Amino acid sequence: MIQERCYIRKISLRASDDRTDDHHYNKNSAEYLIILLEEKMNSEIRDLSLAESGERKIEWVKRNCDLLRTLEKEFTETKPFAGKKIALSVHLEAKTAYLCKVLKAGGADMYVTGSNPLSTQDDVAAALVKDGLEVHAWYDCTPEEYELHIRHVLEAGPNIIIDDGGDLVNMVHTKMPELIPAIIGGCEETTTGIIRLEAMNNAGELKFPMVRVNNADCKHFFDNRYGTGQSVWDGINRTTNLIVAGKIVVVAGYGWCGKGTAMRAKGLGARVIVTEIDPIKAIEAVMDGFDVMPMNEAAKIGDFFVTVTGCDKVIDEEDFAVMKDGAVLCNAGHFDCEIDMARLREIALETREQRKNIMGYKLPTGQWIFVLAEGRLVNLAAGDGHPAEIMDMSFAIQALSAKYLVEHGSELTEKLIDVPREVDIDVAKRKLAFLGKEIDVLTEEQEKYLNSYTLA
Ligand code: NAI
Repeated sequence: MIQERCYIRKISLRASDDRTDDHHYNKNSAEYLIILLEEKMNSEIRDLSLAESGERKIEWVKRNCDLLRTLEKEFTETKPFAGKKIALSVHLEAKTAYLCKVLKAGGADMYVTGSNPLSTQDDVAAALVKDGLEVHAWYDCTPEEYELHIRHVLEAGPNIIIDDGGDLVNMVHTKMPELIPAIIGGCEETTTGIIRLEAMNNAGELKFPMVRVNNADCKHFFDNRYGTGQSVWDGINRTTNLIVAGKIVVVAGYGWCGKGTAMRAKGLGARVIVTEIDPIKAIEAVMDGFDVMPMNEAAKIGDFFVTVTGCDKVIDEEDFAVMKDGAVLCNAGHFDCEIDMARLREIALETREQRKNIMGYKLPTGQWIFVLAEGRLVNLAAGDGHPAEIMDMSFAIQALSAKYLVEHGSELTEKLIDVPREVDIDVAKRKLAFLGKEIDVLTEEQEKYLNSYTLA
């Protein structure tokens, strides 16, 4: 293990040494930072000299995250995480970095990695290391490096886990069970991670409490729907530079993320087709004004395809075969299995990187189809993820749930718990206040009316 880590560290240092492009630091200061990294930190990142760019991105996020700024102030005074180690695996861009800084302000020792090889931003990782956090992540790491980064973060022996997709929890349970006694609990950010946790819990295998952060109203109502809705189209638009108006967009999955993605496609002027497996969601899509049909039918007419189901092989070989020449495919679900990329790579007669993050595949049937960001989450791998104001709410829920675990972890009997309702309401009230909006308050008489079964 130690040998593997040294090897990686050498690669990351060499990447810094070899820099020839003009950057914010001169050679001497870059070397100084590398020495700092080697002597004082245990981090594995691409290039510490990128820190200034990362710091500016984090500053921009901070300016736009009212709730997190308030929590940072509160946590600085109250230190709810004093003496606690937090291991975090979340898409490592500037909003996540600010969450890490807020938790650190609360007294936590932070051990940070990404949750997808293509969503880590190297400058943001560098800024965190410069700020004294331990980071193990770089953009475009191999699957083996990704796994090592997860392992190295966990080697700190965390008390709290903050997970996005379940990779930390999975590694602890399957390969590092000796860590379990020190873990108070953890928080899970996304739908797919919760599906994995529920499966573990049902099998009696989940060994510490996990908070279903995704299921909080202030998370999925806004993050999954409006966050994914906007950022998916930001990723597609900036990557393809193609018009959406007048095109046919196929959205696979009409859950929270799918609703947002379809709604924004409609707003851009597309004709939207939804594919579903759930008859109720399918009716909802029809009543929202969208066409509904099986994927193999939609495959024949779609110009853009977005999968956002959390399921496997939603677009497969049979669908590729009937697609139009020039069809653009992408995924916004957590894992890169929704488009059957393995099979597409096998059957392609030719491949061509057409633009950054656009790979063309020539099919045996003769047409070319184009996949964005290798089928990984398009809004993060080919964009900057959700807007800051949205992640402000999601990460406020994360931070307050982590605080709840520290305060109440020992009392919890259930292994899978919901975000306490008072935390959800607290976040909503704080957000409304920042939005400058007021709402009505029930009078005593109204409360009585709503709680009565006798009053007419
Ligand atoms: P959800 O559970 O609300 O919706 C998923 C929908 O997909 C359901 O309606 C289900 O019936 C449908 N579905 C499942 N298999 C299908 C198939 N084979 N064909 C068509 N439809 C199918 O889940 P949610 O919250 O919308 O999340 C979906 C995925 O997106 C998850 O993997 C989640 O982790 C991920 N996610 C991604 C984000 C991003 O930033 N890109 C943000 C939040 C979640």
